[in-house]
Amino acid sequence: EKGGYEHFMLKEIFEQPRSIADSMRGRINPEDATLLLGGLGSYLDKIAKTKRIVIVACGTSWHAGLVGEYLLEELARINVEVEYASEFRYRNPIIKEGDIVIAISQSGETADTMAALELAKSKGAIILGVCNVVGSSIARITHAGVYTHAGPEIGVASTKAFTAQVTVLSLIAIAVAQKKGTISNELYRELIFGLDAIPAKVEKILKNVDKVKDISKLFTFASNFIFLGRGLNFPVALEGALKLKEISYIHAEGYPAAEMKHGPIALIDEDMPVVFIAIKDSSYEKIVSNIQEVKARKGRVIAIVTEGDTQIPSMVDFTIEVPRTNELLSPLLTSIPLQLISYYIAVLRGRNVDQPRNLAKSVTVE
Ligand code: F6R
Repeated sequence: EKGGYEHFMLKEIFEQPRSIADSMRGRINPEDATLLLGGLGSYLDKIAKTKRIVIVACGTSWHAGLVGEYLLEELARINVEVEYASEFRYRNPIIKEGDIVIAISQSGETADTMAALELAKSKGAIILGVCNVVGSSIARITHAGVYTHAGPEIGVASTKAFTAQVTVLSLIAIAVAQKKGTISNELYRELIFGLDAIPAKVEKILKNVDKVKDISKLFTFASNFIFLGRGLNFPVALEGALKLKEISYIHAEGYPAAEMKHGPIALIDEDMPVVFIAIKDSSYEKIVSNIQEVKARKGRVIAIVTEGDTQIPSMVDFTIEVPRTNELLSPLLTSIPLQLISYYIAVLRGRNVDQPRNLAKSVTVE
Protein backbone atom coordinates (compact mmCIF):
# COMPACT_ATOMS: atom_id res chain seq x y z
CA GLU A 1 0.00 0.00 0.00
CA LYS A 2 3.05 2.26 0.37
CA GLY A 3 3.65 1.67 -3.32
CA GLY A 4 7.28 0.71 -2.85
CA TYR A 5 8.11 3.70 -0.65
CA GLU A 6 9.56 3.23 2.80
CA HIS A 7 6.95 5.47 4.41
CA PHE A 8 3.56 6.93 3.59
CA MET A 9 5.02 10.38 4.05
CA LEU A 10 7.57 9.85 1.26
CA LYS A 11 4.92 8.31 -0.97
CA GLU A 12 2.67 11.30 -0.35
CA ILE A 13 5.47 13.78 -1.05
CA PHE A 14 6.09 12.03 -4.36
CA GLU A 15 2.37 12.01 -5.18
CA GLN A 16 2.28 15.78 -5.33
CA PRO A 17 2.58 16.18 -9.10
CA ARG A 18 -0.61 14.14 -9.28
CA SER A 19 -2.43 15.56 -6.25
CA ILE A 20 -1.82 19.13 -7.40
CA ALA A 21 -2.99 18.23 -10.91
CA ASP A 22 -6.07 16.48 -9.49
CA SER A 23 -6.92 19.57 -7.45
CA MET A 24 -7.01 21.61 -10.69
CA ARG A 25 -8.55 19.02 -12.98
CA GLY A 26 -11.89 20.06 -14.45
CA ARG A 27 -11.39 23.49 -12.90
CA ILE A 28 -8.80 25.14 -15.10
CA ASN A 29 -8.63 24.66 -18.79
CA PRO A 30 -5.39 26.05 -20.19
CA GLU A 31 -6.59 25.60 -23.77
CA ASP A 32 -9.05 28.45 -23.56
CA ALA A 33 -7.67 29.86 -20.28
CA THR A 34 -10.90 29.29 -18.35
CA LEU A 35 -11.41 28.68 -14.67
CA LEU A 36 -14.55 27.21 -13.17
CA LEU A 37 -15.17 26.39 -9.51
CA GLY A 38 -18.45 24.51 -9.57
CA GLY A 39 -18.44 23.90 -5.82
CA LEU A 40 -18.75 27.62 -5.13
CA GLY A 41 -21.73 28.20 -7.42
CA SER A 42 -23.40 31.51 -6.66
CA TYR A 43 -21.14 32.01 -3.64
CA LEU A 44 -18.37 33.22 -5.95
CA ASP A 45 -20.45 36.33 -6.46
CA LYS A 46 -20.84 36.76 -2.71
CA ILE A 47 -17.12 36.46 -2.15
CA ALA A 48 -16.48 39.04 -4.85
CA LYS A 49 -18.84 41.45 -3.07
CA THR A 50 -17.64 40.96 0.48
CA LYS A 51 -15.48 43.46 2.32
CA ARG A 52 -13.86 40.91 4.56
CA ILE A 53 -12.88 37.27 4.59
CA VAL A 54 -11.83 35.38 7.70
CA ILE A 55 -9.93 32.14 7.23
CA VAL A 56 -10.00 29.70 10.16
CA ALA A 57 -7.79 26.62 10.45
CA CYS A 58 -5.20 24.85 12.59
CA GLY A 59 -1.62 23.72 12.05
CA THR A 60 -0.49 23.15 8.50
CA SER A 61 -3.91 24.17 7.19
CA TRP A 62 -3.45 27.50 8.97
CA HIS A 63 -0.19 27.96 7.07
CA ALA A 64 -2.02 27.31 3.81
CA GLY A 65 -4.50 29.94 4.99
CA LEU A 66 -1.68 32.49 5.31
CA VAL A 67 -0.68 31.82 1.71
CA GLY A 68 -4.35 32.26 0.80
CA GLU A 69 -4.37 35.63 2.56
CA TYR A 70 -1.52 36.93 0.41
CA LEU A 71 -3.19 35.62 -2.74
CA LEU A 72 -6.67 36.97 -2.03
CA GLU A 73 -5.36 40.36 -0.94
CA GLU A 74 -2.95 40.71 -3.82
CA LEU A 75 -5.24 39.49 -6.57
CA ALA A 76 -8.77 40.22 -5.36
CA ARG A 77 -7.99 43.18 -3.06
CA ILE A 78 -10.17 41.81 -0.26
CA ASN A 79 -9.25 42.27 3.37
CA VAL A 80 -8.38 38.82 4.74
CA GLU A 81 -7.66 37.71 8.29
CA VAL A 82 -6.28 34.30 9.10
CA GLU A 83 -7.15 32.98 12.53
CA TYR A 84 -6.22 29.96 14.55
CA ALA A 85 -9.63 28.34 14.93
CA SER A 86 -9.04 27.80 18.65
CA GLU A 87 -8.33 31.49 19.28
CA PHE A 88 -11.12 32.75 17.07
CA ARG A 89 -13.83 30.73 18.74
CA TYR A 90 -13.01 31.78 22.28
CA ARG A 91 -12.72 35.49 21.88
CA ASN A 92 -16.12 36.81 20.92
CA PRO A 93 -15.02 37.45 17.34
CA ILE A 94 -16.45 40.32 15.34
CA ILE A 95 -18.50 38.78 12.56
CA LYS A 96 -21.03 40.76 10.59
CA GLU A 97 -23.80 39.67 8.27
CA GLY A 98 -22.23 39.12 4.85
CA ASP A 99 -18.77 38.31 6.17
CA ILE A 100 -17.29 35.23 4.62
CA VAL A 101 -15.57 32.65 6.77
CA ILE A 102 -13.51 29.99 5.02
CA ALA A 103 -12.38 26.91 6.93
CA ILE A 104 -9.39 24.99 5.67
CA SER A 105 -9.11 21.41 6.89
CA GLN A 106 -7.61 18.29 5.42
CA SER A 107 -9.66 15.91 7.58
CA GLY A 108 -12.75 18.08 7.79
CA GLU A 109 -13.06 16.86 11.39
CA THR A 110 -10.84 19.18 13.42
CA ALA A 111 -12.87 20.09 16.50
CA ASP A 112 -11.71 23.70 16.87
CA THR A 113 -12.16 24.46 13.17
CA MET A 114 -15.63 22.94 13.23
CA ALA A 115 -16.61 24.94 16.32
CA ALA A 116 -15.26 28.18 14.81
CA LEU A 117 -17.44 27.61 11.75
CA GLU A 118 -20.53 26.89 13.82
CA LEU A 119 -19.97 30.09 15.76
CA ALA A 120 -19.53 32.12 12.55
CA LYS A 121 -22.64 30.54 11.07
CA SER A 122 -24.66 31.44 14.16
CA LYS A 123 -23.58 35.06 13.70
CA GLY A 124 -24.85 35.13 10.13
CA ALA A 125 -21.63 34.59 8.19
CA ILE A 126 -21.47 32.66 4.97
CA ILE A 127 -19.28 29.68 5.74
CA LEU A 128 -17.21 27.93 3.10
CA GLY A 129 -14.86 24.98 3.24
CA VAL A 130 -11.65 23.82 1.66
CA CYS A 131 -11.57 20.17 2.73
CA ASN A 132 -9.93 17.00 1.52
CA VAL A 133 -12.39 14.47 2.87
CA VAL A 134 -15.67 14.31 0.98
CA GLY A 135 -18.68 14.22 3.29
CA SER A 136 -16.63 15.16 6.38
CA SER A 137 -18.28 17.13 9.19
CA ILE A 138 -16.90 20.47 7.99
CA ALA A 139 -17.82 19.73 4.38
CA ARG A 140 -21.37 19.02 5.54
CA ILE A 141 -22.02 22.14 7.59
CA THR A 142 -20.58 24.66 5.12
CA HIS A 143 -22.78 26.51 2.62
CA ALA A 144 -20.40 25.67 -0.22
CA GLY A 145 -16.76 24.90 -0.81
CA VAL A 146 -14.02 23.62 -3.01
CA TYR A 147 -12.57 20.20 -2.32
CA THR A 148 -8.87 19.51 -2.48
CA HIS A 149 -8.36 16.27 -4.37
CA ALA A 150 -5.17 15.17 -2.65
CA GLY A 151 -6.48 11.65 -2.04
CA PRO A 152 -6.23 9.99 1.37
CA GLU A 153 -3.33 11.31 3.43
CA ILE A 154 -2.05 8.65 5.82
CA GLY A 155 1.19 10.15 7.12
CA VAL A 156 0.41 12.25 10.18
CA ALA A 157 2.59 15.09 8.90
CA SER A 158 0.60 16.84 6.22
CA THR A 159 2.38 17.24 2.86
CA LYS A 160 0.25 16.70 -0.23
CA ALA A 161 -2.81 18.09 1.54
CA PHE A 162 -0.93 21.38 2.08
CA THR A 163 0.03 21.82 -1.57
CA ALA A 164 -3.50 20.85 -2.62
CA GLN A 165 -4.89 23.52 -0.26
CA VAL A 166 -2.55 26.14 -1.69
CA THR A 167 -3.57 25.07 -5.20
CA VAL A 168 -7.27 25.45 -4.42
CA LEU A 169 -6.74 28.78 -2.65
CA SER A 170 -4.89 30.04 -5.74
CA LEU A 171 -7.84 29.00 -7.88
CA ILE A 172 -10.29 30.75 -5.55
CA ALA A 173 -8.20 33.95 -5.49
CA ILE A 174 -7.88 34.03 -9.28
CA ALA A 175 -11.59 33.30 -9.78
CA VAL A 176 -12.64 36.04 -7.36
CA ALA A 177 -10.17 38.50 -8.88
CA GLN A 178 -11.51 37.78 -12.33
CA LYS A 179 -15.07 38.28 -11.15
CA LYS A 180 -14.12 41.58 -9.50
CA GLY A 181 -12.00 42.75 -12.41
CA THR A 182 -8.98 43.29 -10.17
CA ILE A 183 -6.66 41.11 -12.25
CA SER A 184 -5.25 42.01 -15.67
CA ASN A 185 -5.92 39.64 -18.50
CA GLU A 186 -2.19 39.17 -18.86
CA LEU A 187 -1.64 38.15 -15.22
CA TYR A 188 -4.74 35.97 -15.30
CA ARG A 189 -3.37 34.01 -18.24
CA GLU A 190 0.10 33.83 -16.75
CA LEU A 191 -1.30 32.31 -13.55
CA ILE A 192 -3.54 29.80 -15.34
CA PHE A 193 -0.66 28.64 -17.53
CA GLY A 194 1.66 28.83 -14.53
CA LEU A 195 -0.60 26.56 -12.49
CA ASP A 196 -0.88 24.12 -15.34
CA ALA A 197 2.92 23.86 -15.42
CA ILE A 198 3.34 23.30 -11.67
CA PRO A 199 3.02 19.48 -11.59
CA ALA A 200 5.90 19.03 -14.06
CA LYS A 201 8.02 21.47 -12.05
CA VAL A 202 7.31 19.58 -8.82
CA GLU A 203 8.34 16.42 -10.66
CA LYS A 204 11.63 18.09 -11.54
CA ILE A 205 12.32 19.02 -7.90
CA LEU A 206 11.60 15.44 -6.84
CA LYS A 207 14.18 14.17 -9.35
CA ASN A 208 16.88 15.96 -7.35
CA VAL A 209 16.04 14.20 -4.15
CA ASP A 210 19.56 12.81 -3.72
CA LYS A 211 20.99 16.27 -3.23
CA VAL A 212 18.44 17.00 -0.50
CA LYS A 213 19.26 13.68 1.12
CA ASP A 214 22.99 14.50 1.15
CA ILE A 215 22.38 17.89 2.73
CA SER A 216 20.05 16.34 5.30
CA LYS A 217 22.82 13.93 6.35
CA LEU A 218 25.02 16.83 7.35
CA PHE A 219 22.35 18.30 9.59
CA THR A 220 20.97 15.14 11.14
CA PHE A 221 22.20 15.95 14.61
CA ALA A 222 21.46 19.65 14.71
CA SER A 223 19.46 20.59 17.78
CA ASN A 224 17.86 23.74 16.37
CA PHE A 225 16.84 25.13 13.00
CA ILE A 226 15.58 28.49 11.77
CA PHE A 227 13.49 28.87 8.61
CA LEU A 228 13.23 32.29 6.98
CA GLY A 229 11.20 33.61 4.08
CA ARG A 230 9.40 36.76 3.00
CA GLY A 231 6.01 37.45 1.48
CA LEU A 232 4.25 34.31 0.31
CA ASN A 233 7.24 32.30 1.38
CA PHE A 234 7.00 33.40 5.01
CA PRO A 235 4.17 30.88 5.61
CA VAL A 236 6.30 28.30 3.79
CA ALA A 237 9.05 28.97 6.35
CA LEU A 238 6.55 28.40 9.17
CA GLU A 239 5.45 25.18 7.54
CA GLY A 240 9.06 24.01 7.06
CA ALA A 241 9.71 24.52 10.77
CA LEU A 242 6.50 22.75 11.79
CA LYS A 243 7.32 19.71 9.62
CA LEU A 244 10.79 19.40 11.14
CA LYS A 245 9.46 19.70 14.70
CA GLU A 246 6.72 17.17 14.16
CA ILE A 247 8.65 14.30 12.71
CA SER A 248 12.27 14.78 13.78
CA TYR A 249 11.62 16.42 17.18
CA ILE A 250 14.22 19.08 16.42
CA HIS A 251 13.39 22.51 17.78
CA ALA A 252 12.72 24.76 14.81
CA GLU A 253 11.31 28.22 14.29
CA GLY A 254 9.99 29.99 11.25
CA TYR A 255 10.18 33.77 10.91
CA PRO A 256 9.69 36.44 8.32
CA ALA A 257 13.30 37.09 7.27
CA ALA A 258 13.11 40.78 8.14
CA GLU A 259 12.07 40.01 11.72
CA MET A 260 15.41 38.37 12.39
CA LYS A 261 17.09 41.54 13.47
CA HIS A 262 14.37 42.12 16.05
CA GLY A 263 15.51 39.24 18.21
CA PRO A 264 16.17 35.83 16.68
CA ILE A 265 19.50 36.96 15.21
CA ALA A 266 20.90 36.60 18.72
CA LEU A 267 20.60 32.83 18.23
CA ILE A 268 22.88 32.72 15.21
CA ASP A 269 26.29 31.09 15.57
CA GLU A 270 28.22 28.37 13.75
CA ASP A 271 25.92 25.71 15.19
CA MET A 272 22.71 27.23 13.89
CA PRO A 273 21.40 25.95 10.56
CA VAL A 274 19.29 28.55 8.79
CA VAL A 275 17.08 27.64 5.86
CA PHE A 276 16.30 30.58 3.59
CA ILE A 277 13.64 30.56 0.94
CA ALA A 278 15.52 32.82 -1.41
CA ILE A 279 13.98 32.59 -4.86
CA LYS A 280 14.21 35.28 -7.54
CA ASP A 281 11.13 37.24 -6.62
CA SER A 282 10.36 40.82 -5.69
CA SER A 283 12.13 40.47 -2.34
CA TYR A 284 15.28 38.86 -3.73
CA GLU A 285 17.60 41.79 -2.90
CA LYS A 286 16.21 41.99 0.62
CA ILE A 287 16.76 38.28 1.16
CA VAL A 288 20.33 38.64 -0.09
CA SER A 289 21.03 41.12 2.69
CA ASN A 290 19.28 38.93 5.27
CA ILE A 291 21.58 36.08 4.19
CA GLN A 292 24.62 38.35 4.58
CA GLU A 293 23.52 39.13 8.14
CA VAL A 294 23.40 35.42 8.98
CA LYS A 295 26.68 34.58 7.24
CA ALA A 296 28.43 37.43 9.06
CA ARG A 297 27.55 35.61 12.28
CA LYS A 298 28.76 32.26 10.92
CA GLY A 299 25.31 30.68 10.63
CA ARG A 300 25.18 27.67 8.30
CA VAL A 301 22.85 28.52 5.46
CA ILE A 302 20.81 26.23 3.24
CA ALA A 303 19.05 28.27 0.56
CA ILE A 304 16.14 27.31 -1.64
CA VAL A 305 16.98 29.21 -4.84
CA THR A 306 15.68 29.68 -8.35
CA GLU A 307 17.27 27.49 -11.01
CA GLY A 308 20.24 29.22 -12.58
CA ASP A 309 20.78 31.71 -9.75
CA THR A 310 24.51 32.28 -9.19
CA GLN A 311 24.59 35.08 -6.63
CA ILE A 312 23.06 33.33 -3.62
CA PRO A 313 24.85 30.01 -4.27
CA SER A 314 28.15 31.91 -4.00
CA MET A 315 27.17 33.22 -0.54
CA VAL A 316 25.74 30.20 1.23
CA ASP A 317 26.78 26.70 2.32
CA PHE A 318 24.20 24.67 0.40
CA THR A 319 21.56 25.34 -2.22
CA ILE A 320 18.55 23.47 -3.50
CA GLU A 321 17.11 24.68 -6.79
CA VAL A 322 13.47 25.04 -7.74
CA PRO A 323 12.23 25.92 -11.23
CA ARG A 324 11.10 29.43 -12.04
CA THR A 325 7.40 30.29 -11.77
CA ASN A 326 5.27 33.36 -11.12
CA GLU A 327 6.09 34.30 -7.53
CA LEU A 328 2.44 34.04 -6.51
CA LEU A 329 2.64 30.31 -7.24
CA SER A 330 6.09 29.78 -5.73
CA PRO A 331 4.92 28.19 -2.43
CA LEU A 332 3.82 25.17 -4.45
CA LEU A 333 7.47 24.61 -5.35
CA THR A 334 9.44 25.93 -2.38
CA SER A 335 7.51 23.82 0.14
CA ILE A 336 8.64 20.56 -1.51
CA PRO A 337 12.36 20.63 -0.59
CA LEU A 338 11.42 21.58 2.98
CA GLN A 339 9.17 18.52 3.25
CA LEU A 340 12.04 16.39 1.98
CA ILE A 341 14.58 17.88 4.39
CA SER A 342 12.39 17.08 7.39
CA TYR A 343 11.61 13.63 6.05
CA TYR A 344 15.26 12.66 5.55
CA ILE A 345 16.45 14.14 8.82
CA ALA A 346 13.71 12.27 10.70
CA VAL A 347 14.56 8.99 8.97
CA LEU A 348 18.26 9.45 9.69
CA ARG A 349 17.41 10.07 13.34
CA GLY A 350 15.42 6.85 13.40
CA ARG A 351 12.09 8.52 14.07
CA ASN A 352 8.68 7.05 13.40
CA VAL A 353 7.99 9.30 10.44
CA ASP A 354 4.42 8.28 9.70
CA GLN A 355 3.31 8.27 13.31
CA PRO A 356 5.27 10.79 15.31
CA ARG A 357 4.93 10.63 19.07
CA ASN A 358 2.07 12.56 20.71
CA LEU A 359 0.33 13.32 17.42
CA ALA A 360 -2.88 12.07 15.84
CA LYS A 361 -4.00 12.43 12.25
CA SER A 362 -7.14 14.26 13.07
CA VAL A 363 -7.64 16.26 16.20
CA THR A 364 -11.27 15.75 17.10
CA VAL A 365 -10.93 16.99 20.66
CA GLU A 366 -10.15 20.59 21.49
C1 F6R B 1 0.72 19.08 10.50
C2 F6R B 1 -0.61 18.60 10.68
C3 F6R B 1 -1.53 19.34 11.59
C4 F6R B 1 -2.86 19.58 10.88
C5 F6R B 1 -3.88 20.22 11.81
C6 F6R B 1 -5.17 20.55 11.09
O1 F6R B 1 1.47 18.27 9.66
O2 F6R B 1 -0.99 17.62 10.09
O3 F6R B 1 -0.96 20.55 11.99
O4 F6R B 1 -2.61 20.40 9.77
O5 F6R B 1 -4.14 19.35 12.88
O6 F6R B 1 -5.75 19.41 10.56
P1 F6R B 1 -6.89 19.48 9.48
O7 F6R B 1 -6.30 20.10 8.26
O8 F6R B 1 -7.32 18.07 9.27
O9 F6R B 1 -7.98 20.35 10.04
